[in-house]
Amino acid sequence: MKALLLLISLLAVIPCVRAQQTNLIANTQGRKTVSLDGQWQTIIDPYETGYYDYRYLPSADGYFKDAKPKTKSDLIEYDFDTSESLAVPGDWNTQKERLLLYEGTIWYKKSFDYKKKPNTRLFVYFGAANYLADVYLNGEKLGRHEGGFTPFNFEVTNLVRDKANSLIVKVDNQRRRDAVPTLNTDWWNYGGLTREVKLIETPATFVQDYFIQLQKGSREQISGWVKLNGDKLNQTGTVQIPEARVSRTFTTDANGYAQISFNADLTLWSPDNPKLYDVVVEAETDRVQDLIGFRSIETRGSEILLNGRPIFLRGVSIHEEAPFRGGRAFSQEDSLTLLGWAKELGCNFVRLAHYPHNEFMVRQADRLGIMVWSEIPVYWTILWENPATLENAQTQLSEMIARDKNRAAVIIWSMANETPIGDARLSFLKKLVERTKSLDSTRLISAALERHYLDEQTEMIDDPLGEYLDVLGCNEYVGWYDGLPEKADRLEWKTKYQKPLIMSEFGGGALYGKHGDALTRWTEEYQENLYQHQVKMLKRISFLRGTCPWILMDFRSPRRPLPGIQDFHNRKGLISDRGERKKAFYVMQQYYHELEATLQK
Ligand code: GCU
Repeated sequence: MKALLLLISLLAVIPCVRAQQTNLIANTQGRKTVSLDGQWQTIIDPYETGYYDYRYLPSADGYFKDAKPKTKSDLIEYDFDTSESLAVPGDWNTQKERLLLYEGTIWYKKSFDYKKKPNTRLFVYFGAANYLADVYLNGEKLGRHEGGFTPFNFEVTNLVRDKANSLIVKVDNQRRRDAVPTLNTDWWNYGGLTREVKLIETPATFVQDYFIQLQKGSREQISGWVKLNGDKLNQTGTVQIPEARVSRTFTTDANGYAQISFNADLTLWSPDNPKLYDVVVEAETDRVQDLIGFRSIETRGSEILLNGRPIFLRGVSIHEEAPFRGGRAFSQEDSLTLLGWAKELGCNFVRLAHYPHNEFMVRQADRLGIMVWSEIPVYWTILWENPATLENAQTQLSEMIARDKNRAAVIIWSMANETPIGDARLSFLKKLVERTKSLDSTRLISAALERHYLDEQTEMIDDPLGEYLDVLGCNEYVGWYDGLPEKADRLEWKTKYQKPLIMSEFGGGALYGKHGDALTRWTEEYQENLYQHQVKMLKRISFLRGTCPWILMDFRSPRRPLPGIQDFHNRKGLISDRGERKKAFYVMQQYYHELEATLQK
């Protein structure tokens, strides 16, 4: 018994070295990089001829070899350099008419020269590739990444050459039952290298990652960690916040890891004052600078507290759909447009559905003071009992948190959207909650749940997952899928949990410019009427602390074919995909302006 007690006491003093979930390089925008964006040569490969031989076994001479005939008699049946090109970043669906509905493999090739300096390391970084990416450099496999919305990087230090490097990526966007998301989604399966690609040069031992945020509920206690990567892992360094007159020393252990914890007198980040500090992490062999905001977010009963004060999240849901041009949004300009529209609506909050958006969105939200709900695509009927599916979801969750854990704007990590109640699903999602808490104890955890009718007048939120969430999310479509708009007038909302509620989806469709009476489906007047009844209902929910109407802008969906109205678009946007504001936009805008006025009193 004594030995056991001794062991327990020893374990208690070992610093909790959080398992490094990814080898992701943090804050690439603060590093020396070379962009590989632009035109890439591509080969469409619906039968994966460039990967499998005729017996469907992985071929040693696939397209990744980028082979050329050596004699006039040689047989090579592909040639990247005379093939068509596609722009990177960008989905392939909206670049060529014949690719709009394409689901399968497209090979990408980029040739580049690179003169690597001595004693440095080189990595190739992808903002995202939807859905499955196999990456090769000069014919050598670097690795595979699964998941269409999170970044990844591979080291190429010992493979890169001065001239004519051949970087080849097999991107496969085929949907799979066991994948995350699974086969069925209400968004377009945009495939390709959908975000930026760049080379990152680092010192031999560099500051790979760090977590520097206020502890949950604190307004002056900063805690976190620094992680070095390389062969000189024992280093002494400093975390500096010059404007706050902070400089704290750390010493990394044999794993290159050091925990940090110190007090600081800070101007806290908030929508009214989105204060960002220059933060420097300096080790003996590397120095990286970031822009970080500090705020605390927590709940107390049915209140959400930002920096200790109750807030109401005036939100809107957003898909990563490019305004005006359609396709995957990926640029700073796209983020300025989408978040600018959210601000015009009166928002202090956005739900980035249904997957992690590009980093420009989150960094812009940091600067604009817009709080963010970020989620992984555990959407609808996931294969809950498949271990590989859980591992996939865990990896995408870890990558989402790895990239955005230092962004003050992100206040909520969401585990799932509209998943069916069941034991296997609950077990799966509880594991995601546990992983989230192990990676980041500073933010709130939620999920978009469904409610059920207790009786004709009562909507009940009692999903068993609610017990494990900090904040309840709920999607409801009263007036669209569920009765007519005035049905909302007679509904009462209840929950078994003493927790805040964010109505994470509600609304209905309208084709911009289609007009009629308030009960004619698809008219702007029907949508406007629906929102008027919704707002009256929302005002009556005592534990409501946030709203995210579905959705800011119309978006492409394969599930919405209605000719002349949907034309493969979901028309629930408050704004059309051409940037035209529908009448319902102004109903929500007025609600948010009233809310802002009352809460500021
Ligand atoms: C669901 C789902 C959305 C979908 C929306 C709709 O709630 O979460 O992804 O687009 O309803 O039906 O429009």
